Amino acid sequence: MTSAAYADSLIAHRSGAGPSAVDPFALALNESPLPPLPAVRAALIDRMGAANRYPDFLPFRLRRLIADHAQVGEENVAIGSGASGLALRVFQTFATPGERIVLSTPTFDGFPAFARMAGLDLVDIPLDGDGHHDLTAMAHAAQHARMVVVCRPHNPTGTVEPVAEVERLVANVPADTIVVLDEAYIEFVSPGRRIDVSRLIARFPNVIVLRTFSKAYGLAGLRIGYALAAPALAGLLWSTQLPFGTGAGCTEAVAASYAAAAQLEQRIARIVAERSYLRARLHAAGARTTDSHANFVYLTAAERSWSEAFTGSGLRVRGYPDGAVRITVGSRASTLRVLAAVERALSGPAGAPRGRTRSAVRSMREPAPVGPAAMHRPAPTPG
Ligand SMILES: Cc1ncc(COP(=O)(O)O)c(C=O)c1O
Repeated sequence: MTSAAYADSLIAHRSGAGPSAVDPFALALNESPLPPLPAVRAALIDRMGAANRYPDFLPFRLRRLIADHAQVGEENVAIGSGASGLALRVFQTFATPGERIVLSTPTFDGFPAFARMAGLDLVDIPLDGDGHHDLTAMAHAAQHARMVVVCRPHNPTGTVEPVAEVERLVANVPADTIVVLDEAYIEFVSPGRRIDVSRLIARFPNVIVLRTFSKAYGLAGLRIGYALAAPALAGLLWSTQLPFGTGAGCTEAVAASYAAAAQLEQRIARIVAERSYLRARLHAAGARTTDSHANFVYLTAAERSWSEAFTGSGLRVRGYPDGAVRITVGSRASTLRVLAAVERALSGPAGAPRGRTRSAVRSMREPAPVGPAAMHRPAPTPG
């Protein structure tokens, strides 16, 4: 996908007035369905009263907060305009145009777009039939690449690769190949499945972990992301930190979010429970989803195309060229609308496989569909 196509497809979601905080139809961008926590909102309003003043020259306070929370040193942290801003900086800082980057396909649309902005050559490795990375093929391709990107949980399928397999990939790529481990949705993953990131970056100086406040923290509008890496890599990223580049209120919002950890945990638990409910109901209705550990579910196009199922429903979901659809987990009202659309589609004739998306389902025009071939994992169970 070109960066222009990426921008077009995102703008298509947001024509007219700005977004409203609560919108049961907005299920395309994996945002939080809830407005900011009261303490976060209060901190932001307070800071906006001095919006005539520049923010911090460099985000030292924010870096310290994040480092303490992630239990790493400040020298392990860089701050970005969302994880997106950091991904672009990582590609531009550590690769030169013409070098290769290995991506799974489909993946978060930003990665191919940013890789092209950085002039990199894309090597696309299809996911398997259950929406998992083919880590063996990725490690193989990475032998001749500058970078490889693994999303855990993956976007759009929500799957989580086992810790040992990710570590094996990291251990098997050349020492000067950078492994970007995207953890944009990590807060939705049960603690037992999380990677000990401070240990990972201490062991492997070629790993960069990307995280964001856009998803579980519900602060997509503030554009706060961060990278965790060994001091050499994090230091180089920090050296390209734009002066006054982290908006006023970001540090205060993060501090208030950390202070409200218990409330945030409740929100996350609520979304995880809603995801389980939605997956179970979809499964009972006969729709196949991948084993998602994030705040979205992914209807595969293995048996039928879902492209048209949401047309006329008013729901904004994310469609893929092969007919698969990714749906953000929202409120119970959103869930019921999704179920109604799916049940209506299932009661009609099966859609043609690999159909094109239209109207309510916005396709991001990703180049390749989910790979149908390698069905070597057991079928996922809901929940
Ligand atoms: C896997 C993944 N990584 C990174 C991002 C970028 O997040 P942001 O730039 O809002 O921090 C997204 C956003 O959807 C995502 O899905």
